[in-house]
Amino acid sequence: MSDDLLKKIIAHSKEYGFIFPSSEIYDGLGAVYDYGQNGAELKNNIKEYWWRSMVQLHSNIVGIDAAIFMHPKVWEASGHVSAFNDPLIDNKDSKKRYRADVLIEEFRAKLEEKIQKEVEKGKKKFGDAFNEVQFLETNPNVIRTKTKIDELNKRFINALNNNDLEELRQIIIDNEIACPESGSKNWTEVRQFNLMFSTKLGSLSEVANTIYLRPETAQGIFVNFLNVMKSGRMKIPFGIAQIGKAFRNEIVARQFIFRMREFEQMEMQFFVRPGDEMKWFNYWKEFRIKWHKNLGFGDEKYRFHEHDKLAHYANAAFDIEFDFPMGFKEVEGIHSRTDFDLSQHQEFSGKKMQYFDPDLNESYVPYVVETSIGLDRTFLTILCAAYKEEIVESTGEERVVLAIPPALAPVKIAVLPLVKKDGLPEIADKIFDKLKLHFNVIYEEKDSIGKRYRRQDAIGTPYCITIDHQTKEDNTVTLRHRDTMEQERISIDELIKVADEKVSMAKLLEGLL
Ligand code: GAP
Repeated sequence: MSDDLLKKIIAHSKEYGFIFPSSEIYDGLGAVYDYGQNGAELKNNIKEYWWRSMVQLHSNIVGIDAAIFMHPKVWEASGHVSAFNDPLIDNKDSKKRYRADVLIEEFRAKLEEKIQKEVEKGKKKFGDAFNEVQFLETNPNVIRTKTKIDELNKRFINALNNNDLEELRQIIIDNEIACPESGSKNWTEVRQFNLMFSTKLGSLSEVANTIYLRPETAQGIFVNFLNVMKSGRMKIPFGIAQIGKAFRNEIVARQFIFRMREFEQMEMQFFVRPGDEMKWFNYWKEFRIKWHKNLGFGDEKYRFHEHDKLAHYANAAFDIEFDFPMGFKEVEGIHSRTDFDLSQHQEFSGKKMQYFDPDLNESYVPYVVETSIGLDRTFLTILCAAYKEEIVESTGEERVVLAIPPALAPVKIAVLPLVKKDGLPEIADKIFDKLKLHFNVIYEEKDSIGKRYRRQDAIGTPYCITIDHQTKEDNTVTLRHRDTMEQERISIDELIKVADEKVSMAKLLEGLL
């Protein structure tokens, strides 16, 4: 995959109403995007898939919807005021600003690619006799690159863990990492930059109170731990899930909706008995990657990545990474957050954040395993995996198709009268009215049937039904399948049943059982 693909996806998203730059008529606002008519539908469907898989399929998980504004003390307790920073570095020639850690990570990814290229070369050279394990252990080029990666990793992890900004800069200098824009190696010092947006609560005449736009949804769950536990009579282990907006003043915001300043998270905090956290951590790691793979895009597109540096609150952390056009990158984090957050809130609020465990006959502050997935990044994984350019064998023309899983597709069925006469639109209208009670359907009569199929392919509509002259004779329509372009005739009376079987969320969720 390449950056070219990302460019095509960005253009396609705009042309077909998935994603627009925010306030575009005023030239846009950096790293802020709006979801169009098809984007909003796809986003809602992803939310539904996540919500039902977490809340509906797990009887011990409930969902909430907390406010974006929170008491400012929340962010002192959580550590975000003092520690939610990115290490930034500027290139003196290009005047471009980068995250120092990201520059190093990208350099490391290039070294890893280099090894992969050697492997490909070896495969070509030795054919069937190629032994990859042996090659990786003995090839001098590979060994040299591997040693470089190991040394880099050691320094990088140390620098991150010790917050050693000078060493981060030195790694960039020593490895001759250049500005991706200009190729210059003329770097400034590395500085810390806090990512939270602040604003003032109340009118200007009042004593101003600085509050923050939440940088994660998780804290809304922690501060409601007691409320949910008591009102829901929850017994440990139990989880609280939430979907909502989060805001980060990302300085280096590139790559479309991958890194935004306003985005949405789908987070779940799972409260467990201290000592049980690794068991649950492993459960959630496996369940979450299964959720991604269940979309059917190919298991090889996902992998785990263990964190180089643990956040101040975590005792274990893995990312689920997706193979984006710009390489494998994080889409979700699974973190074992210990009792850090609840203990901090206990200290700062003076309220006991404890659970009485009847089996142990004692009270404790529960440990927390968190699953935290970016909704917009998941959206991007789906666009990247679903986007296909194909040559239609029968006609030789090119089609662009979004092979989105049917349950997530913005429009489920397009209702298309073959021609705008002979009573066909009237029959199509009736079918449309019946189907719209069950699915998001679209009615189109303009342009040739071929053009209308292409438009539906481009937004990922899994099924088109065409009403033709035979419909008047035998009450059947053609059902066209987006991926194979095959058509079958089915009775109008069977439409809802047949379509539901193919596009229902329940069908997708079944894959998780
Ligand atoms: N509560 C833990 C937490 O917020 P995180 O790794 O900072 O952890 C979780 O964020 C997920 O949120 C990421 O895996 C990513 O998918 C998404 N995310 C984070 N920052 C983002 C941004 N600037 N734009 C889009 N998505 C973002």
